[in-house]
Amino acid sequence: MLFPDYRARRLRQNENFRRMIRETRLSVDDLILPLFSVGGKGVRNPIPSMPEHYQLSVDKIVKEALIARDLGIPAVIIFGIPNKKDALATSAYAKNGIVQKTVRALKDKVKDLVVITDVCLCEYTDHGHCGVVQDGIINNDATLDLLARTALSHAQAGVDMVAPSDMMDGRVAEIRDALDENGFESVPIMSYAAKYCSAFYYPFRQAAESAPKFGDRRTYQMDPANSLEAIREVTMDVEEGADIIMIKPALAYLDIICRVREEIDLPIAAYNVSGEFAMIKAADKLGWLDGSKVMMESLTAIKRAGADMILTYFAKEVAKELRQD
Ligand code: PBG
Repeated sequence: MLFPDYRARRLRQNENFRRMIRETRLSVDDLILPLFSVGGKGVRNPIPSMPEHYQLSVDKIVKEALIARDLGIPAVIIFGIPNKKDALATSAYAKNGIVQKTVRALKDKVKDLVVITDVCLCEYTDHGHCGVVQDGIINNDATLDLLARTALSHAQAGVDMVAPSDMMDGRVAEIRDALDENGFESVPIMSYAAKYCSAFYYPFRQAAESAPKFGDRRTYQMDPANSLEAIREVTMDVEEGADIIMIKPALAYLDIICRVREEIDLPIAAYNVSGEFAMIKAADKLGWLDGSKVMMESLTAIKRAGADMILTYFAKEVAKELRQD
């Protein structure tokens, strides 16, 4: 294949050739739109570090979900901002909690849209950690039951899929059992399997009001320096019954997506997180790069690395961009 026999540029000379040899194609089918649900009516609170994203009350979420559905986006993932936080995150598994209400409204009013819920405690605990705190330590096993109750309450509200993001050990099995014992064996689990302790979550924590009040998440989320450990985390979740495994964040972790793709035959989701979104938006606003082009390139790269689906705050913009093509 040596030059001049092989000339890579032969098949790049026009768009039709380029289309014919394109290996990766971003599709609206790949997109999952995250939404933030808050109490009240007619509420649309802007999130400073996430342009065009808002804390939305249930009525507004329904509207937003209809827009997403009409753009062809197959799924949304719901995060809740409760009125009340406490040590045991009781609002996370309350029958009339914010997520439960949102799910009921969405399943009632928006047809043909997969509704996923994030299952975690950090938005609901007064200390902001993803688990039960005892003597300043996040207690793994005491948290499992609360996570299972949360997932079950989402299923009872009619959710299509649950997505545990807490990173406690053993929670996928615990949630699977709770769902199965209560007749929800058809509700799949998308587990945040390799979730890193990342500074890229900063805008999200403003949006979800979920920053930890003391310490950080390093005792449960993964060290960004590790990749073998990602394989162990993912393998564990697969064995516990996960249906889709997620890698998070996406862009700084493309090697992890690629590696997991080679080892695991389940569908892979990648979370293009809030900080990845904010960086591109900020640079675009400054006129330092073309945000829309960087968006398409970034998401294509996430797919090329091996992701089957992408949770992204760009979902609506990408869907519109793909329509124009
Ligand atoms: C909850 C959760 C977080 C994100 C998704 N679920 C924040 C965190 O772990 O602190 C981050 C998503 C994003 O940054 O877009 N545990």
